[in-house]
Parts: sequence; C-alpha cells; structure tokens
Amino acid sequence: MTTETYRPRRSVLYVPASNDKALAKLPSLACDAVIIDLEDAVAPADKVSAREKLAGIFADRPSRRCEMVVRINALSSEWGADDLLAAARCEPDAILLPKVDTPRDVLEPGDVLDDNFAPDAVKLWAMIETPKALLNIGPIAELGRDPASRLVCFVAGTNDLVKETGILATPDRRYLTPWLMQMVLAARAGGLDLLDGVFNDFRDLDAFARECGEAAAMGFDGKSLIHPAQIEAANRAFAPSAEAVAEARSVKEAFALAENAGSQVIALNGKMVERLHLTQAEKLLAKAAAIGA
Ligand code: COA
Ligand code: MG
Repeated sequence: MTTETYRPRRSVLYVPASNDKALAKLPSLACDAVIIDLEDAVAPADKVSAREKLAGIFADRPSRRCEMVVRINALSSEWGADDLLAAARCEPDAILLPKVDTPRDVLEPGDVLDDNFAPDAVKLWAMIETPKALLNIGPIAELGRDPASRLVCFVAGTNDLVKETGILATPDRRYLTPWLMQMVLAARAGGLDLLDGVFNDFRDLDAFARECGEAAAMGFDGKSLIHPAQIEAANRAFAPSAEAVAEARSVKEAFALAENAGSQVIALNGKMVERLHLTQAEKLLAKAAAIGA
C-alpha cells in the first residue's frame, strides 16, 4: 500500500452475476468493492446468460465510490476467453483471475487486455487458491512491481485451498495459516494488496468478526465476503482503530517539534520511536483519512 494510491478494500463482496435480487441491492451497500462473479457462484447452465448481463450491470453502475471487479472463469475453461473479452468491454476497476498457477496465467490475460485496448485503469487481481500458486507465489507477486502487468491484488481462495490440499478446515484456521502468511509476505514483496478468503457461515457474525480481527492482525488489507451482513464488521476490523490513530498522531506531533527536527530516534511516553515509526504513522493517518475513520 502506498499512501498516494491508497484505496480501501476492507470489505469486498461477491455477487453472483446470475442473482438479480442480489444485484439490485448493490446501490445500498457500504462495501469498498464488489466482485461480480461469473465463476463458482454461477451454475454451468447459467454461465452464458450471466456473462450477457455484465454490460447492463455496468451501465447501471451505482457510483465510483465502490470498486467494481469481475471474476471470470478460468481461461482453461470453455467460458474463460469470452468472459475476459466481455469483462474488458465493461471497463471494470479490475478483472479477478481464478485458479492462477504461474506468472504466465497473469501475463496472458494482461496481453489480451492490451491487444483489445483496455484502458490501463483496468487492473488484474489474482486468486491464490491452488497448491501451484503457493509454490510459485514469489514470481507471481513480483509482477506487481511492473505496472504493465496490471496486477494489483491477491485474493485468498481458502475454500479451494482446503479442497485441493485435503487439510481439515478448523475454526482457528491452524492448517491454513502458514499459507496465508506466505501470501502476506509475497504480497508485500510485490507491492500488492491482499484480501482474505470468505467466511462461509454467514449467520455467525461473532465468529466472522473474530476472523476479520485475526486477518487484520496478520496483515491482510480486507476480506472477501459472501453476504451483506458481513460488510460492517469487515469495515470496522480493517480500519485503523481510534487508539492507533491517536498514537500515530502523537508520533507525528513529536517529530514535528523543533527540538526533534534533527533526531533519528526519540523517546515518547517511555518508548523508543524511530523515523520508521513516523513513516508508518503517516501511512496509517492517510489510510484513516481516506476511509473517514
Ligand atoms: N450480494 C448482494 N446481496 C445479497 C448477497 C450478496 N452476496 N447475498 C444475499 N444478498 C441479499 C439477498 O438477495 C436478500 O435480499 P432481499 O432482502 O432483497 O431478499 C438479502 O441479502 C438477505 O439474504 P439472505 O436471505 O440472508 O441470504 P440468501 O439465502 O438469499 O443467500 C447465499 C445466501 C449464500 C446463497 C448468498 O449470500 C450468496 O449467493 N452469496 C454469494 C456467494 C458467492 O458469490 N460465492 C462465490 C464466492 S465464494
Ligand atoms: Mg475458487
């Protein structure tokens, strides 16, 4: 995350392109982004009609406040190539690529977007949901350092990872956590945003809020969501807390004092504070300002 380009992605809601009732709700939702899904939330028999709805969905685009992303089917599937072209024509904020295994799986759709004159503002997001993606995550993330790749965000696909690896899904996510932390490290190395996977039990908001708090502590920028009821807790968990904002302000004020102008390290309320903490504080304050926290 850079302060200049900070875009909140605390709450990112999947909406099946085939579900008119859910689509009708979009203008009233306070999520930071929506992912119009053509992939796993849409049955094979509905794939083509769901794709045909995209243009209408984007014509009625509620506002620019909320990012709008399209998740296409895998390019190896019978729908992927046409999904990519149809999504590109809508000029979404991003196209989310499922089942990415290698850097090539990002570079190839990027070339298609270039060949079809998609504006540079159309970015790519990548699902990290296969064993191969985890083995190749460093080189995939490195694409984030090249703006020409369009890659700006990873989305953890935890349901697929559980399915593909055979691990047991436990409430504390003990077997998933090492892989989630690997995603955090790779995303930071590549300068990418990173969203946590979905929480399936959408009626259990207490457990959901707990998982959001853990994901924020792990370094995720936000969470992918399946139900509108999950938006509020995600917005709260991934926003800087009031205490964190107050502390950042005091760090900034301390370094602004004339007596500290030349200091690299100062003492503040009995703690050592370095200039790197000032950078961190400024980032946090920019983030808080952007989301109105
Ligand atoms: N986006 C927008 N609106 C949604 C929504 C979503 N993802 N999920 C539910 N809603 C709406 C419903 O349409 C309903 O609207 P209404 O008040 O006009 O009737 C309202 O929120 C309450 O929904 P509820 O009855 O609690 O849930 P449901 O049984 O209709 O739907 C799911 C439950 C899980 C089927 C649904 O939330 C869903 O499809 N989620 C997305 C799944 C998905 O995209 N998966 C792929 C990525 S993992
Ligand atoms: Mg998936």
